[in-house]
Amino acid sequence: MMSASNPTHATTFSIFLFFFISFFQLSYSVGNTTTLFLCPQIEKESLLSFKQSLKDPENHLSSWDGEVINCCKWKGVICNNFTGHVHQLHLPDMSLDGKMNSSLLNLKYLTYLDLSGNDLLGGTMPSFIGSFSKLEYLNLSSTGVHGKVPHTIGNLSNLHTLDLGFAGDSQDYLVVDSLEWLSGLSQLEYLNMNEVNLSKAYNWAQVINSLPSLIELHFESCSLDLIAPLAPDYVNDTTSINHLDLSGNYLSSITTQWIFQITNLLSLDLRSNSFGGPIPTISNATKLHHIDLYSSFLKFKYSRLVLPL
Ligand SMILES: *[C@@H]1O[C@H](CO)[C@@H](O)[C@H](O)[C@H]1NC(C)=O
Ligand SMILES: *[C@@H]1O[C@H](CO)[C@@H](O)[C@H](O)[C@H]1NC(C)=O
Ligand SMILES: *[C@@H]1O[C@H](CO)[C@@H](O)[C@H](O)[C@H]1NC(C)=O
Ligand SMILES: *[C@@H]1O[C@H](CO)[C@@H](O)[C@H](O)[C@H]1NC(C)=O
Ligand SMILES: *[C@@H]1O[C@H](CO)[C@@H](O)[C@H](O)[C@H]1NC(C)=O
Ligand SMILES: *[C@@H]1O[C@H](CO)[C@@H](O)[C@H](O)[C@H]1NC(C)=O
Ligand SMILES: *[C@@H]1O[C@H](CO)[C@@H](O)[C@H](O)[C@H]1NC(C)=O
Repeated sequence: MMSASNPTHATTFSIFLFFFISFFQLSYSVGNTTTLFLCPQIEKESLLSFKQSLKDPENHLSSWDGEVINCCKWKGVICNNFTGHVHQLHLPDMSLDGKMNSSLLNLKYLTYLDLSGNDLLGGTMPSFIGSFSKLEYLNLSSTGVHGKVPHTIGNLSNLHTLDLGFAGDSQDYLVVDSLEWLSGLSQLEYLNMNEVNLSKAYNWAQVINSLPSLIELHFESCSLDLIAPLAPDYVNDTTSINHLDLSGNYLSSITTQWIFQITNLLSLDLRSNSFGGPIPTISNATKLHHIDLYSSFLKFKYSRLVLPL
């Protein structure tokens, strides 16, 4: 068809080929109602390395096939429709087993990472997790990650949801040595650290008091009884917390008076603590409509609870 002795044809062919490829890229899968750009090669390779470093006994990632040109078509991968960059990874409950590979860092536009429920994702929580600078949503709940929560998470300044609840196992929980890094997360609205060992975070209350966007906080079974909490002197005007869960901490005294001054509080869960006296007058938390004190009082059978009316 094409021969070197016929340069004009060769050029025409090349030009044709160029336009053909360009057209093919631009309109990839138009027939499929979506106009998707191709994911960049480097992002595709980074996903393949991630897959390679994991065991996938239930074959959830079978669509992650190097032969498939566009990784935007792979299960759980969501790309920006206009640029093709991988923006979201939805990989919950896939029985993935192994360690998170840092090759994922090539996904420079990642805003959403959900690996929850893969309880065999072992290893310590990698500090590179703090380098996904665009991340807004991170869910590592019920993954097997354990060890120290890396402070680098505090670099994720766009994060609005952080779920580390019930990570680890009964042998090896996630632990924090301080929560100072949380103050880097000024956009954070939802924080779940259920069963993360917070017994060294003596100033947890002060830290959450300084998070202006926080709406919902879950600190269930965090061994908070092992520290003398340093309560904030006053509740920050800027606090927007309306759902607070401190259940299962065997807290023995309400040095937590400040909680009842959070005026936006709607729901308060204090189940399974060991308060030894009457709980304070809740006169300032005027919006509170749900309070759970199940199994919270050890020494006093009846205690007086004064609710705002
Ligand atoms: C991208 O395309 C999908 C499929 O048509 C659509 O559901 C989604 O809303 C689009 N996203 C954006 C940001 O346009
Ligand atoms: C990540 O995956 C690549 C390719 O599979 C491998 O060479 C590398 O050792 C892995 N890195 C880690 C930290 O597992
Ligand atoms: C995180 O994942 C778990 C399990 O998939 C889910 O139940 C939970 O709602 C998720 N958390 C958030 C904040 O979306
Ligand atoms: C990320 O956080 C770590 C520890 O808090 C810090 O040393 C590092 O400089 C930060 N990196 C960036 C890029 O902000
Ligand atoms: C939490 O950590 C403290 C100190 O490191 C330890 O004494 C305690 O047993 C841990 N709590 C749980 C539930 O493992
Ligand atoms: C109150 O919140 C602001 C902004 O979130 C913060 O800068 C300030 O340090 C907080 N004050 C206290 C006493 O925590
Ligand atoms: C209610 O708030 C006011 C003003 O912030 C404060 O002076 C008072 O002590 C609070 N009352 C209780 C019971 O917390």
